[in-house]
Amino acid sequence: MIGNELPFVLPGPAPARDTLAGWQHWCRIRRSFVPAPLMDLAAWRLLSPRKKMLHNLHRAATHANLPLLATPMSRAVEKLLNGRIESNALKLKPTTRAGVMVSGGGYQGKTECVCEIAAAFEERWLALHQHLNPEAQSGHRDLHAPVAYVQTPVTAKPKSTCKAILNFYGAPISPRMDLPDLIQQVASSLRDHGTKVLILDDITRLRMHRADDQDTLDLIRAFMSMHVTLVLIGVDIRGSGLLREGRHDPSTGQWQLPASERSKFRGLEPTQTERRFDLVELGRFRYDSPPQIAAWLQHLRGVQEGLRLLDATSGMLTEGTMPEYLFQRTNGVVGLLERLIEDGCREAIDSGLERLTEDLLDSVAIDLTGVPDRDPEAGEVPPVPAREARKAKRSRNTVFDDRGPAATGT
Ligand SMILES: Nc1ncnc2c1ncn2[C@@H]1O[C@H](COP(=O)(O)OP(=O)(O)OP(=O)(O)O)[C@@H](O)[C@H]1O
Ligand SMILES: [Mg+2]
Repeated sequence: MIGNELPFVLPGPAPARDTLAGWQHWCRIRRSFVPAPLMDLAAWRLLSPRKKMLHNLHRAATHANLPLLATPMSRAVEKLLNGRIESNALKLKPTTRAGVMVSGGGYQGKTECVCEIAAAFEERWLALHQHLNPEAQSGHRDLHAPVAYVQTPVTAKPKSTCKAILNFYGAPISPRMDLPDLIQQVASSLRDHGTKVLILDDITRLRMHRADDQDTLDLIRAFMSMHVTLVLIGVDIRGSGLLREGRHDPSTGQWQLPASERSKFRGLEPTQTERRFDLVELGRFRYDSPPQIAAWLQHLRGVQEGLRLLDATSGMLTEGTMPEYLFQRTNGVVGLLERLIEDGCREAIDSGLERLTEDLLDSVAIDLTGVPDRDPEAGEVPPVPAREARKAKRSRNTVFDDRGPAATGT
């Protein structure tokens, strides 16, 4: 029976989270990948050629789907965002809800961190509804969308941003709609679907030096009047102009966006109250103090647990000069580390070495040219540290290269 022999199912098209169906599909499957079983070289050699091939395929899939690990930075975002989302969702008063801005450099995990927090909220919220009022939800689950995830289009303007939100819901858009019409339509979609969290990812694609800047700020004010927690994600939000009219309130740590004098968007400014935001940074790892180094080592330990190389030692990523080496190659950016490790594992399997060493990783370039869904103009592609500078600096180590049998005969 074939089903018993196949170690995993090849993935279909990657779920696009920026439509309601895609978001809900991703929420359902996001933890469903089963990694390849742990195996050493001796056990692998006993497999039939077909099983070897399947196991290698499963290992490659495992390295391409490394799990999201909690980091000190992601925990800080989770604490703040969860608190804000939950207390806003339970608020009955018609006052505006405080929003959250998540800022950080490219590839530092902003999108994945926020989506995971929002997906977990969605699960809890739907379960609560089911629990409190099971009848009301039957047959209507698809219409209930506690979270809307929207990617800001490249060279976005207020109108195209509204259209991207309406596209999430599959709501009709007529070419005759002007900006106030579109905003009204967004408000209706959010209300009709019971949306509690509106995530606008890559918000810093809305460059704030154009004639319609003011429209952008008014648009954000309007979204914040819609009784959702507005979550804005972007690269260097402080430097982007989004906070230009904002004022930092040291007593609460929040940013205040004063009410607009123009109140341009009809029906959506019930009061002239200011809008409040928490701004949270999702930083990279650092390597300057013992606690920072310990956090990096902890992350590397987590990464290592996900790897399926046949001749790996338990301290492969965490002992000797390897942690510092990996830091120098990636600048402590989780996304760059993921790329280096994934490509390194491919090389380790192809070459038969079956473990990661500094020499092997030296041959792996981190190449981010042409990565999809990222806008280099908006700072979403971070600088990659040069390999050469590091090579020259390195004397020569150490323990790992001679440890364990080389993976000959594979
Ligand atoms: N906590 C984590 N643990 C392991 N891998 C992570 C973690 N966070 C992010 N990654 C990986 O890093 C890569 C980049 O993450 P993500 O796309 O969320 O970054 P980003 O900050 O949104 O980048 P951009 O500014 O370019 O949009 C992803 O492939 C993701 O799987
Ligand atoms: Mg992102």
